[in-house]
Amino acid sequence: MSKFSIDQIYKSVKGLIPIQDLCDGAEITLEGWIRTNRSNNNIGFISLNDGSCFSCCQIVYENGRLSNYDDISRLLTGCSLRVTGRLVITPGAKQPFELNASEAEVLGQCDASYPLQKKRHSLEFLREIPHLRPRTNTFMAVFKIRSVVSQAIHEFFRQNGFAYIHTPIITGNDAEGAGETFTVTIRDDGCYQEDFFKRHACLTVSGQLHVEPFALAMGKVYTFGPTFRAENSNTPYHACEFWMIEPEMAFCDLKGNMAVMEAMLKFVIRELLDSCQDELKFLNDFVAEKHDLIEKLNRVVSTDFRVITYTEAVDYLKNADVKFENPVEWGMDFFKEHEMYICEQVAKGPVFLIDIPKDIKAFYMKLNPDGKTVAACDLLVPGVGELIGGSQREENYELLEKRMEELGIEKEGLEWYLDLRRYGGVVHSGFGLGLERLLMYVTGVANIRDVLPYARTPGNLRF
Ligand code: 4AD
Ligand code: MG
Repeated sequence: MSKFSIDQIYKSVKGLIPIQDLCDGAEITLEGWIRTNRSNNNIGFISLNDGSCFSCCQIVYENGRLSNYDDISRLLTGCSLRVTGRLVITPGAKQPFELNASEAEVLGQCDASYPLQKKRHSLEFLREIPHLRPRTNTFMAVFKIRSVVSQAIHEFFRQNGFAYIHTPIITGNDAEGAGETFTVTIRDDGCYQEDFFKRHACLTVSGQLHVEPFALAMGKVYTFGPTFRAENSNTPYHACEFWMIEPEMAFCDLKGNMAVMEAMLKFVIRELLDSCQDELKFLNDFVAEKHDLIEKLNRVVSTDFRVITYTEAVDYLKNADVKFENPVEWGMDFFKEHEMYICEQVAKGPVFLIDIPKDIKAFYMKLNPDGKTVAACDLLVPGVGELIGGSQREENYELLEKRMEELGIEKEGLEWYLDLRRYGGVVHSGFGLGLERLLMYVTGVANIRDVLPYARTPGNLRF
């Protein structure tokens, strides 16, 4: 008996990848979990999902044909099952095929306490059961897309000649200088000089500083890994553990940097539109607030991203016809409400915000000739706000040293980073894309907790 996945059957029936053994009447075996089961004395119907795709397969079972008819008809939602039977292709019907069962074996029982009953559950409820929620349509779609997006990002960089570098998770520096690190220690007295590494160690907030040396050796590189921030911000956009994609390019200025950001996002979205049609349609219809997800993604791949300077953005905000909770002043770090206004009302799509005041940006960013702003770039997108943060890097030794002094960043421990400016330094740039923020954007999911397999947020480490 040949075993198949529901996805294979769908693709074969649609003619996408014709599989000879999947002709009408073929004897096949499926394994999966029961979504619904209803029956009378003579006939029963199971909707079986095997996780290979979004769709279920209808299993038809008949009393007399199936020796354990009564046992099968009593099975509840959540049971796992192996079914063998005849594939019936039903052109024109709502479901293009079904399986007429001749044998059914219960693999795992499931009782009535199973939390995923056939009704719509709120995302908040599902957040309490992260070990079961991947079995729902919404989370199957989200996590399939998470996988496809991750692979598409690697593919984009592979096609464009970038080398993939694994930067360390344990580090001695706080790259962003925002003091939001989680300490790594084996002591309980905080005496780091006597600690495992004989100094203070923490989880990385960004792989950037460690990947820059590779850009100045190999040209185009990127890192893609988990990053950790102990920001105590309980918002729909912040997680304490999130994944970041950080390319870094030698001989590349801010303009080149922005071109890579735009090309990468468009590549990933095109790939999604191509290979996750069912998932996107589901999310469009049931999750995205305005049901405009697919239209939005199609628009993004076919339009140029806008560019506005921070100073122009301040003007837009000051002249806005809405009242912000936080007053706007040149020099301030924008709040979410300001970011949203700029991308949703002014640009009505993704927008690069460039030339940002140096005082609200990290020490390594290239100072602009005005002496006040840096060659930084944040990409803002509707519904999410900041999706990418990047910049041209300060390649001038003296200027970088001066900037570190101004900000009270110790040179000790970062000499190696300064060295890059002494030994054949060149113009170079890079950026950080938050994977979860990108997922929120492309799925229409409104809370970062719902695009992470196990969200780490303040006060939340149950699973
Ligand atoms: O803007 P950030 O802090 O930039 C950096 O870390 C640079 N070192 C990147 C670089 O140039 N190589 O973070 C980059 C992105 C943000 O734009 C956002 O998408 C995401 O990381 N991000 C978060 N995502 C989820 N939860 C958080 N707490 C995040 N903090 C930042
Ligand atoms: Mg940022």
